[in-house]
Amino acid sequence: MTSLTVVHGAAQLARPSSGTVETIPDAAVAIANGAVVGVGPTDDVTREYPPENADTAVDASGGTVLPGFVDPHTHAVFAGDRADEFTAKLRGKSYQEIMAEGGGILRTVRAVREASRETLVSNLCDHLDTMLAHGTTTAEVKSGYGLSVDAESKLLAAIVEADARHPVDLIATFMGAHAVPDGRETDGYVDHVIEKQLPAVADQGIATFCDVFCEAGVFSVAQSRRVLEAARDLGLAPKIHAEEFERIGGAGLAADLGAVSADHLLQATAADAEALADAGVTPVFLPGTAFTLDTPYADPGLFASAGADVAVATDFNPNCFSQSMEFAIDLACHGMRMSPGDALRSATAVASDALALDDGTGTLDAGAPGDLVVADVPDYEHLPYNFGVSNIETVLADGEVVSRAG
Ligand code: NIG
Ligand code: FE
Repeated sequence: MTSLTVVHGAAQLARPSSGTVETIPDAAVAIANGAVVGVGPTDDVTREYPPENADTAVDASGGTVLPGFVDPHTHAVFAGDRADEFTAKLRGKSYQEIMAEGGGILRTVRAVREASRETLVSNLCDHLDTMLAHGTTTAEVKSGYGLSVDAESKLLAAIVEADARHPVDLIATFMGAHAVPDGRETDGYVDHVIEKQLPAVADQGIATFCDVFCEAGVFSVAQSRRVLEAARDLGLAPKIHAEEFERIGGAGLAADLGAVSADHLLQATAADAEALADAGVTPVFLPGTAFTLDTPYADPGLFASAGADVAVATDFNPNCFSQSMEFAIDLACHGMRMSPGDALRSATAVASDALALDDGTGTLDAGAPGDLVVADVPDYEHLPYNFGVSNIETVLADGEVVSRAG
């Protein structure tokens, strides 16, 4: 039996496609069995798919229909928070100083090691509720606060379980090389990641990607290469945190390995942008991180000149505590001076490239998952224009209404 959803009467439907955003006024979408089957003017779509025959009909009058947002970089599974570190940073302490004092990532590692899997699932589901309310229907979630076989497996199992329980679709990334645990030296820990953690994760089939924090004082380019090559041999496609605080060559490594994405890129150069573009690596910008650390944003102009589309993500983690892709879009425009259309593409179709999704996620193409958002704005330009509030009215996942404002 077919299940039919019709969203009709939208003031505008905005459809990200290659290089542009196509718009349709007074528009409708039909979704059958969870997949988009019709997009166009309301009269045309409702003639073929009358709302009165639908299992679910959504009147989007006056609103804008968009694909659900895809958040391609989060560290959303953790325990505790670090609000006090935020206050210390406001008083002038740097992220690196906090790390050197035993705060930062290693503090969250201690909290995660003590937490049960059930607590981690429940924390993650709470954050997913917030993400969904702000329009995210697909998100990548990294491990990396465990740093041992058991604790990394616990985090990844929590992601798998939350994915089964929650309407936001999750893609899991193994990030054992996120920090070096207390009392270990870096090369020995890299051996442990490669010899123990990676095989255990691959055996359990609980991660799609492998990521590394390639950064001065964390993992060098050579160490990152070892981890990512070992991961690739086990079927986990590489991603990388590159050129965030210092430019040490992570972007070049990403290009060389044909990584799926290279993320952060605050210190990237024109040559890095070109190398990534030539290698087909999707650059991912995380404007929330620059915003909260009060550092300059990554430079979209470098990547535009290189002909590379960039994705935008939240980087949601205890240091960058925002689950909202709406806010990431606001920052992409207000902070990085991206156009509303480019920011929307970055948060949808290009973000899905950063996760190597080829099923139409992040688009409203025929056959794409019926993941969409009705925003309470007359057109997509108003989304970042009306910043600092939530404009998301209704969210559908696989054609079902999963969130409504108010
Ligand atoms: O992407 N840079 C490394 N990882 C995270 C921060 C994680 C944390 O501080 O807990 C990031 O910003
Ligand atoms: Fe990150």
